[in-house]
Amino acid sequence: MSMEITIGDNKLKIRNATRQDYKFCYGITKRHMKHYAIKHLGQWSPSAYRGEFDPEKVKVLTKNNKRLGYYMVTINPKNLYIDKLQISGLIRGKGVGTKLLELIERKAKKLKKKSVQLHVFTDNPSKNLYKRLGYKTIDKPKKYLLLMGKDL
Ligand SMILES: CC(C)(COP(=O)(O)OP(=O)(O)OC[C@H]1O[C@@H](n2cnc3c(N)ncnc32)[C@H](O)[C@@H]1OP(=O)(O)O)[C@@H](O)C(=O)NCCC(=O)NCCS
Repeated sequence: MSMEITIGDNKLKIRNATRQDYKFCYGITKRHMKHYAIKHLGQWSPSAYRGEFDPEKVKVLTKNNKRLGYYMVTINPKNLYIDKLQISGLIRGKGVGTKLLELIERKAKKLKKKSVQLHVFTDNPSKNLYKRLGYKTIDKPKKYLLLMGKDL
C-alpha cells in the first residue's frame, strides 16, 4: 500500500517498508540520534536498534524513489505509539513531520484509539513540534526523557 502527499514543491510517497529499507532506516537514525544516545544512555547500540526494528510497523517516505525519511508505529490496545520518526535534513522544516504526525493521528482515530504517544529526549527540539500539535507531557520516566501524548 502506498499514498502520495504534496508539501510545497515536494511530491512525496509513503509506502510500506521491507527488510531492504533497514540500512537506510538504521543510517538516518544513527546520524540523527547517536549523540543523544551517547549523552543520555552512554552508548549508541546497533543491536538495540536491530532488535527494535520491525518492517511491518514501518512506513518509508520517498521522493522520486529516493528515501527521505521513515516512521515506525506500534498499535497498542489503547493508543498508537510512535517508536521512530526520522526525516532527512534535505527536507526538514517544510511541514513534512507535521503531515506525517497528522496521518498517524488519522490512523489512530480510524482504529478508535484514545491517544497517540511517543518518547522524546528532553533536549530534542522536536518536542516543540509535538507541543505545537497539541501533545502534552504525560510522564518523565528519566531526567532526560519525556513521554508525550495527544488525546484524540
Ligand atoms: C522531528 C522531525 C521529524 C520533524 O520533521 P520536520 O519535517 O522538520 O517537521 P515540520 O517541518 O513539520 O516542523 C518543524 C518543527 O520541528 C521542530 N524541530 C525539530 N527539530 C528541530 C531542530 N533541530 N531545530 C529546530 N526545530 C526543530 C520545530 O518545532 C519546528 O518548528 P518550526 O518549523 O515552527 O520551527 C525532524 O526534525 C527530524 O527528523 N529530526 C531528527 C530526528 C528526531 O529528532 N526525531 C524525533 C525523535 S522523538
